[in-house]
Amino acid sequence: MITLGEYIIKKQHELPNASGELSSLLGAIKLATKVVNREINKAGLVDIIGSTGLENVQGETQQKLDLFANEKFKAALEARGEVCGIASEEEDDYVSFNSKNSINSKYVVLMDPLDGSSNIDVNVSVGTIFSIYRRISPVGEPATLEDFLQPGNKQVAAGYVVYGSSTMLVYTTGNGVHGFTMDPSLGTFYLSHESMKFPEDGVIYSINEGNYLKFPQGVKKYLKYCQEIDSATKRPYTSRYIGSLVSDFHRNLLKGGIYIYPSTASAPKGKLRLLYECNPMAMLTEQAGGVASDGFKRILDIPPTELHQRVPFFCGSKNMVSDVEAMMREYSSDEE
Ligand code: AHG
Ligand code: MN
Ligand code: MN
Repeated sequence: MITLGEYIIKKQHELPNASGELSSLLGAIKLATKVVNREINKAGLVDIIGSTGLENVQGETQQKLDLFANEKFKAALEARGEVCGIASEEEDDYVSFNSKNSINSKYVVLMDPLDGSSNIDVNVSVGTIFSIYRRISPVGEPATLEDFLQPGNKQVAAGYVVYGSSTMLVYTTGNGVHGFTMDPSLGTFYLSHESMKFPEDGVIYSINEGNYLKFPQGVKKYLKYCQEIDSATKRPYTSRYIGSLVSDFHRNLLKGGIYIYPSTASAPKGKLRLLYECNPMAMLTEQAGGVASDGFKRILDIPPTELHQRVPFFCGSKNMVSDVEAMMREYSSDEE
């Protein structure tokens, strides 16, 4: 049985300019994960569920656990001194860490500390998503906005934690996607899923179909295609939607499927955030042989213009994403 810590060290030589800092940074994320996991497991017993009554900069209600997870990840990352700053879905602006160690470090982390947080009240899986970049600004100076506004193709690592029936940490440093399952009695992650791959064809589609009337024409056509009967292509497909991107993604990665959060008439850029959700999931998707797109082009090539930018998101099994992209192209002129 190989632990996450052992695996990170074993694979360190595969990293560009490996000096151990990225390994230590992944160690800080692992530590924060355990703290958040412990609190999530007590939800219902301690006063951690429900809303804070506050809103984040995007106008979304913050749950107590959103803020708790944000503080724990921020504190763990600052304490190790391996990053010069973070940006988070729960912070208005990026935060630079200016201690002597931090300011001399090479990396920044962007994160969605608690994904699917509305599910916590009802004992359904939630997650954490993280994304790591090499800074652009000079080492020794405070982090700047441009360190955080890099396209996803510049990520050096990305991953997620799913707090599900078991807790798993899944990550990539650009050499495949590897999954580790926590043994709760020891608090240790063990390698359980090495080199995870999206099946090229899947039979699961995940989308909030309640918004159907607001979807672009290409998405409506694709959903009808998913529901048609055709034994050769194993249709109708199965609809599965948890409402936690991490959990929906994780199931589709294991079983084959597509996740879609398109633009809608009321939210023309969709709901999901490019920097905290879509870019890290897109890097994982591509590393696992899948495709991640905004319906027309590669997510990882989109140049970010602001921290909390949203983008339509289509990701998963290669052939499913290319089918929906073809319909998006075919029907896009209908909406002009
Ligand atoms: P978060 O809890 O970080 O705000 O993210 C919620 C996201 C994502 O996890 C999920 O797939 C999607 O929002 C669900 O949105 P709808 O409720 O609109 O379907
Ligand atoms: Mn989220
Ligand atoms: Mn969140």
